[in-house]
Amino acid sequence: MLYIGIDLGTSAVKLLLMDQDGKIVNVVSREYPLYFPHPGWSEQKPEDWYAQTIEGIKELIKDVDKAQVAGISFGGQMHGLVILDQDDHVIRPAILWNDGRTTEETDYLNNVIGKEKLSEYTANIAFAGFTAPKILWVKKNEPENFARIAKIMLPKDYIAYKLTGVHCTDVSDASGMLLFDVKNRRWSQEMCEICGIRMDQLAACYESYETVGTLLPEIAKELGLSAAVKVAAGAGDNAAAAVGTGTVGDNMCNISLGTSGTIFISSGKFGVDKFNALHSFAHADGSYHLMGCMLSAASCNKWWMDDIIGTKDYSAEQQAIQKLGENHVYYLPYLMGERSPHNDPNARAVFIGMTMDTTRADMTQAVLEGVAFALRDSLEVAKSLGIKLERTKICGGGAKSPLWKKIVANVLNLKVDVIESEEGPAMGGAMLAAVACGEFKSVEEAAEKVVRIVDTVEPDQKLAAKYEERYAQFKEIYPACKPLFQVMK
Ligand code: XUL
Repeated sequence: MLYIGIDLGTSAVKLLLMDQDGKIVNVVSREYPLYFPHPGWSEQKPEDWYAQTIEGIKELIKDVDKAQVAGISFGGQMHGLVILDQDDHVIRPAILWNDGRTTEETDYLNNVIGKEKLSEYTANIAFAGFTAPKILWVKKNEPENFARIAKIMLPKDYIAYKLTGVHCTDVSDASGMLLFDVKNRRWSQEMCEICGIRMDQLAACYESYETVGTLLPEIAKELGLSAAVKVAAGAGDNAAAAVGTGTVGDNMCNISLGTSGTIFISSGKFGVDKFNALHSFAHADGSYHLMGCMLSAASCNKWWMDDIIGTKDYSAEQQAIQKLGENHVYYLPYLMGERSPHNDPNARAVFIGMTMDTTRADMTQAVLEGVAFALRDSLEVAKSLGIKLERTKICGGGAKSPLWKKIVANVLNLKVDVIESEEGPAMGGAMLAAVACGEFKSVEEAAEKVVRIVDTVEPDQKLAAKYEERYAQFKEIYPACKPLFQVMK
C-alpha cells in the first residue's frame, strides 16, 4: 500500500509518497506566496495552500497505481489562525506562527489573566505567535470579521476539512493554540471564555494517528483515488517531524532547521517548564513533549543568501568558511522577533563584531553559527530542568548542509544522527497515515520499522570547547540590545 504525507510548510507544501516498508517512492514540492503586510506581520491565503496541495498530490501520484493509495495525513505549520464563516468560506488571510502583531494581546494574557492561570489551564503561557492572542487581536481590530466566525482552524486542518468535509484537528497542533488543556488532551472551557469564543467554534480534536474521515467523492474523483482513502488527523509540523525522525517515546531529541528552528524533546509523561520558556505540548505518539522554537532559522540563511548577497549557490558560499570556532563576528537571528526563550516580538537581527578584515565568508559563518547559538539557548533551558541529552536527530532544509550540521553538533555538543531523508514532517505525516490504516500497530512501531539513521556527526571536543567560549559571548548580546529593541519598534 501507499501513504501520502503532506507537510504544509511556510514557504511550500512538500508531499511525500511512502510505501508499506517505509520506502520513499516520490517527493514533490509546490511553493505559495507569503505576505508581510506590515513589518512583523505574516500572512498566507488558505486557498493557495489548498490549490497547491491538490496540484501537488496529482503530481506525486501520477506514475503510480492509484488503487494502492490507502491513506493521507499531515504535518502542518502550527499556530496559524484560519477563520471560516457559516458557509465554511475563509474570512480573512491566515495569521501565521511567525506573526508578531499581538504584543498587546500577549501582554494582556500573560499579565492581566496571568501566567499562572494560563499555565494551569493550558500548560503554557502566551507567545505572540500562538492562536489565542490572534483571536483577541481579530476581536479588537476586526470586529466585523470576529462576528462572522463559525469555525476556528489550524492550517493543515483546513486542508483535512477540504478533503473530507470534517472539521478536525489533532492534539499536538491544538496544544499550540493556548485554548487546549494539554495535560488532559481536551479544549479548555476557561480559555474559550477568556477569548470570547464558544467551544462549538473549535474543531473536534483527535489523536494524530486517528482517522477523521475519508475523501469526499468529488475530491476522490478529481485525484483519481478511491473514496475509501482514509485521512488521519496528522500533527503540527514539529511533532510530525519527530515521528518522521523516530523521535518518539521518552527523552529523544530532534532539531528542525526549517523556516523556524526547533529543538523537540519527547517525553513519556506530561511536564511543564517552570520557566515557561519551552512549550509543553501533546505529542503525536500519544504522549507529550517539550519544545523550544526560534522564529527564523534556515530563513536567516535564505535571507542572507538570496536577498542580501544575491546568490543561489549556498554550498559555494559555505565552502569558503575555514575558521570554525574562531569567528569574531556574531549574528542574532531575530529577523521576525524571537519566541524561545526570549518571548520578544520586538527583538531584531543584529550583526556585531566586524572589522576591516571581516570577509563575506565570516558573515555567512556568523549566520549559521547564530542560529546554532540560539538553539543552544533553548537547550540550556532544557538542561536547567534536569533533562540530559547526548544525541539528537536533525531534519529540515538546513540539515542538507554538512557544514551546518557540524556547527550544530559542536555548538550544542551533541551527537547529531542523520536520517535517510531530511523530509521530517512529510515523512511523519505518511507514517501517521500508515498507522491510521493499520499498517503499524502504533507510532512507535512505525518509527522502529521505518526510520533509518545513515550517519552521525560527532562533536569534536576541541572545537566544542572553542564554541563554548563563543557561546558565552553570544549570550551577552541579546540582553545588551534588548533596551534598544524596545525603543526602535
Ligand atoms: C512551532 C512553530 C513553528 C511552525 C513552523 O511552535 O511555531 O515551528 O510550526 O512551521
